[in-house]
Amino acid sequence: MSHSNYNQAMLALGQAPSVIRETFEYGNRRAQEIGRENVFDFSLGNPSVPTPDAVQNTICRLVEETDPIQLHGYTSAIGAEPVRAAIAEDLNRRYDTGLSASDLYMTCGAAASLTITLHAILCPGDECITFAPFFPEYRVFVEATGAQFTVIDADTESFQMNLAAFSDTISAKTKAVMINTPNNPTGVVYTEENLQKLCEILRRKSAEYGHPIYLIADEPYRELVYDAATVVPYLTKLYAETFVCYSYSKSLSLPGDRIGYIVVSPQMTDNRLLYAAICGAGRALGFVCAPSMMQQVVAKNLGLTADLSIYRKNRDLLYNALTEYGYRCIYPDGAFYLFVEALEQDANAFCQKARDYELLLVPSDSFGCKGFVRISYCVTTEMIERSLPAFQKLAEAYRKS
Ligand SMILES: Cc1ncc(COP(=O)(O)O)c(C=O)c1O
Repeated sequence: MSHSNYNQAMLALGQAPSVIRETFEYGNRRAQEIGRENVFDFSLGNPSVPTPDAVQNTICRLVEETDPIQLHGYTSAIGAEPVRAAIAEDLNRRYDTGLSASDLYMTCGAAASLTITLHAILCPGDECITFAPFFPEYRVFVEATGAQFTVIDADTESFQMNLAAFSDTISAKTKAVMINTPNNPTGVVYTEENLQKLCEILRRKSAEYGHPIYLIADEPYRELVYDAATVVPYLTKLYAETFVCYSYSKSLSLPGDRIGYIVVSPQMTDNRLLYAAICGAGRALGFVCAPSMMQQVVAKNLGLTADLSIYRKNRDLLYNALTEYGYRCIYPDGAFYLFVEALEQDANAFCQKARDYELLLVPSDSFGCKGFVRISYCVTTEMIERSLPAFQKLAEAYRKS
């Protein structure tokens, strides 16, 4: 066996091609050739609505008024106690959750929340299940723990969780299930009924196998829902063995500031031991002391979101136009993505063809579901308006062929 100076698995990850990155780079090259205004880049999930003025003002005030040693110094590894207490209180007010500061662990966004949680509970030989379509980094995060990543095929009619298949897949080695609602890439919000049924299955299977099967709720889009009737239940209330992985990246448009948290359900069996395992995983991964200033910023702006009416307007504009042109698409209640059926079987070929019309879309294969494209509508409304003739011509080209 040849000795290597580096970890082969990490090298492979670092060198793996990324469709989204490649599309983004293609978009930049194309913008130089034909002008930015002629390229319709729908590839990235980078919020296009600015963070609220109140957040900007808080940052300015903190910088002006706080002793820099205190402002930029370490907090405790789990996050500042007053920050965790304020967030717990806000969640209790909004969702009647009964949380306290000691149930929260501050993180650098959802990616850190997820990797810490997964490392806290998974061992090699365990299995973590998720539902397609899913955020592609899930595979990377789970496999880094040595556990097996198992995907339940999508229900391509409703894009709700396929619970019959899930129930049949769970086995003694299943340690966790990871879900994401509102969903990237479909924009679908799982119904309360679907979630209740999932929790029923988890209770039954946990009893059958004699150990808890944890629910990991990945919730960066929790507040991004566009109709008053849409409910995103708080999952610790439906199932005791729940971790909620939250991030302010999307709700406050702060993805570059890397701030979020983990909630360890107070009702969880062995809650204190699991919280300690979260602390241990944070330590092992180097995710201690989330950005100190941002902890204070989010604690001072609880309950605020970026102006979601812009995303709602973008959704309506794009959904109505695309369905009128003959595209098939699940109606998205939340997040900022449309999941549209490709007009030929191979979504990669369809995305290549879309480039002829300067439309940059992401094929669905890496989300664990073939034959669709993801369109991120966290872009300017004006770009969507300019792009509509291109979508129409693309559909016409397929009708003629
Ligand atoms: C479903 C989902 N989970 C997690 C993340 C990672 O979010 P963060 O930027 O907070 O790490 C994203 C980012 O796009 C996402 O869409």
